[in-house]
Amino acid sequence: MCSVVGYVGNEYSRKFVLEGLSRLEYRGYDSAGFACIDPDNNRLMYAKSEGKLQRLVSLLEKEPIDGFAGIGHTRWSTHGASSEQNAHPHFDCEKLISVVHNGIIENHTELRHQLEKTGHTFHSETDTEIIAHLFESSLSVRKELPEAIVHLVQQLQGAYAFISLLNAHPDTMVLVRKRSPLCIGLGDGQMFVASDMLAFAGKTRNVIFMPDESFALVCKDSVELYRFDGTPIAVSVQEVDVTWDMYEKQGHDHYMLKEIYEQKTAIHDTVDFLHSVKDRIWDDMGMSAKQICALDSINLVGCGTSWHAGYIGKFFFETIAMLPTQLHLASEFRYLPFFPVKNNMFLAISQSGETADTLEAIRMVNEFQIPTVALTNVSSSTMVRESEGFVLTQAGREIAVASTKAFSTQVTALYWMAHRIACEKKIINTSQLESAQHDLLVAAEVLENTIENYKLSIIKDLAPRYARYKKMIFLGRHNSYPFALESALKLKEIAYILATAYPAGELKHGPLALIDADTPTIIFSHQDPLIYQKLVGNVQEVKARGGHVIAFAFEGQKELCDLADTVFEIPRVKSMLGPLAMTGLMQFFFYAIAKELDRPIDKPRNLAKSVTVE
Ligand code: M6R
Repeated sequence: MCSVVGYVGNEYSRKFVLEGLSRLEYRGYDSAGFACIDPDNNRLMYAKSEGKLQRLVSLLEKEPIDGFAGIGHTRWSTHGASSEQNAHPHFDCEKLISVVHNGIIENHTELRHQLEKTGHTFHSETDTEIIAHLFESSLSVRKELPEAIVHLVQQLQGAYAFISLLNAHPDTMVLVRKRSPLCIGLGDGQMFVASDMLAFAGKTRNVIFMPDESFALVCKDSVELYRFDGTPIAVSVQEVDVTWDMYEKQGHDHYMLKEIYEQKTAIHDTVDFLHSVKDRIWDDMGMSAKQICALDSINLVGCGTSWHAGYIGKFFFETIAMLPTQLHLASEFRYLPFFPVKNNMFLAISQSGETADTLEAIRMVNEFQIPTVALTNVSSSTMVRESEGFVLTQAGREIAVASTKAFSTQVTALYWMAHRIACEKKIINTSQLESAQHDLLVAAEVLENTIENYKLSIIKDLAPRYARYKKMIFLGRHNSYPFALESALKLKEIAYILATAYPAGELKHGPLALIDADTPTIIFSHQDPLIYQKLVGNVQEVKARGGHVIAFAFEGQKELCDLADTVFEIPRVKSMLGPLAMTGLMQFFFYAIAKELDRPIDKPRNLAKSVTVE
């Protein structure tokens, strides 16, 4: 999504704002902009450009505006095309108020009409510009900033985090937050502001995470925090331990590659962490052991890759913990009838903990008497704050838009949770829980080793060969079907190759019509003998129609290997963990294809890392 960054202090702001934006650019890269207060005359100055941040940087080299208070933005377009005109910052009529914004103003059409009727002129198609004009109109009736902001937010509907710089208050940044994250880093004679603290990691350890529905007046030495009704809030500063070098590419061509290789460690860290909290896990989850034992069913919800991990998790909960499990896509769940049942829990899966649809699903379920638990990678996320409990993965920060280690650690955590619940319910004993942890570590080993085994042939031969295809079909069965879904998503998003995934048994109900020599079929095997035999049958159907098959097979699956045109052979792991073992190789293969096609792998077109708007 968009990112907002701001600075006020004793130093010039541009350097920090641009650096902060570059750290957050993975959240959106359709356009970028910067505004600051001219120290000579206290007037607002700005520059903005379409496209990636580098274009703004070049523009600012030619027109080097700067000031002691500055704000910046990178955009992921929602309202209006990716153009310079729609790039932030946006302004009021007199260009005395500037705004950079992340989120959506839902009633923007209605507000725009009202404002136009009262003489305001708009210069962009964005919902953000409404904020600037509305702020102008609020300040005309309420002279003091806090009162004007209270008046302003009363009229705004939606989810938003914005920063505003005003001519009339050259030393103050105005911050407003509703349902979109915003945090303040406290420095010595300087304040850093951003939608994600990564922007100022390494500059300060003292951070204020703004509460939901709050606004702040930030000067170089002070922060005043208020609720939306104007009552002051005591400021709570948290100490965090993050440095930026933890997030450099460290010699890899792309963050995605770095993150593929971090998976073994991330899985180890997740297992170690979960093991260390195993006795207090129900407290973390906001539940009691009694509630866990009484569970009759589970609901899982998520979007994209997290939904795929949840889909694989459904097999774990049903098979290992014997809990009927319903899986929901968050974007659909919110608009469907919900039938709360007793003895249930609602597990929301999200790498970022900020995804708007998943967050809204949590808020919806919070209205009922059902425990909500966030399974996330970010302990400071909104989901952790708004769910009744949480379980944390230990993937470390994931920067590439395409999820890799977030996925494998989610699958890891779900497998562990299914065992931990089974243990509490006395379906398995503690030594079986320990074995499950060991099985996860074995799968992590296989995940990494298989990349090494096939790396050279992928780079030299397979990636160039398969990069020529325009479309591919993905097949799986049982829990290798959701893995096929995740694999197809990876290929689509980073290589822009059309990929469609099916449960292999569905082939003859329609997709078989797509099979031809120009459409490779990628099949993900399973270690269960019965499921494997069925998959072999499906491959025979494809081959009989002149199809080309790439098989991810497990060692010893000779029939499948003999049928396929290209084979990746993977050492056997615990049957349920087959998808986890195949994860690294699948990601590396598609990464190499995308690289062959010269795609912008870490920032695929039209996408953003964290989808904080609906
Ligand atoms: O942060 P979340 O896990 O909630 O994000 C959900 C999806 O946007 C995300 O998984 C997306 O599908 C992946 N980045 C794709 O690789």
